[in-house]
Amino acid sequence: MPEEMSSLEQPIIEMRGISKAFGPVRALADVDLRLFPGEVLGLVGDNSAGKSTLMKILTGAYHRDAGEILVAGKTVNFKSPHESRDAGIEMIYQDFALCGNMDVGQNVFLGRWPRKGPFVDRKTMYSEADNVLKRLKVDVNSVHQRVESLSGGRQQSVAIARAISFEPRVVVLDEPTANLSVVATERLLETMLELKKHGVAQIIISHRLQDIFAVGDRVMVLKRGENVGEREIKRTTEHEVLALIVSGKPEK
Ligand SMILES: Nc1ncnc2c1ncn2[C@@H]1O[C@H](COP(=O)(O)OP(=O)(O)OP(=O)(O)O)[C@@H](O)[C@H]1O
Ligand SMILES: [Mg+2]
Repeated sequence: MPEEMSSLEQPIIEMRGISKAFGPVRALADVDLRLFPGEVLGLVGDNSAGKSTLMKILTGAYHRDAGEILVAGKTVNFKSPHESRDAGIEMIYQDFALCGNMDVGQNVFLGRWPRKGPFVDRKTMYSEADNVLKRLKVDVNSVHQRVESLSGGRQQSVAIARAISFEPRVVVLDEPTANLSVVATERLLETMLELKKHGVAQIIISHRLQDIFAVGDRVMVLKRGENVGEREIKRTTEHEVLALIVSGKPEK
């Protein structure tokens, strides 16, 4: 989202003045974040900078000490990730939160298997799961495969398919490429671009700046719980962003 346009369009997500402490640890201090419809925002910063905490506050997994959250201009107070899901926000955690001993179709619809009378409607479940995977152009051989038999990259695809089946407006990915092979990383970044084409706004947390630069429109840097800078990807370099991460200041 170019700066000149951002004032014209309403953010899909706006976080204002978010603060959070865990006992004596100040995790976030007065952080602002804006995400625009269809935008991909990279959220970066060193370990313990507060990235995951900020996103968990967004989804209602953690409670903020101070600040305000708006979704499409309306104030929200999510008390759990179930409530943020209902508002169209999905977060994909690094451990995927899947059931390894169940198959792909069962995982995509975990907790809400379609029913036909007293029985699970397996036909609908597997064909719908197959549709979501095809729509994302992800490469999982069969919806009948057990998830624990899949590679990390394919498990990631299943987690994304599950998130997308809720038809979210916003997807948050917390370090999605940390444990992926080169090929799986490429596939994931392509999936993100595919989602972007469908108008889904995304926030990606990553330590790999090349991933942020491959798919991001904008990048925001946290350092020790503070927002130390935001840049449009087109108008910055990995070098400049790295300087912000390390010193909290643009390099002279
Ligand atoms: N549940 C928790 N209880 C206590 N302290 C926490 C909790 N979650 C986060 N913290 C602390 O808050 C700070 C920010 O942590 P957070 O996980 O948000 O950082 P991060 O930027 O995601 O780091 P990383 O890149 O290592 O994932 C850290 O000092 C961390 O130890
Ligand atoms: Mg984290």
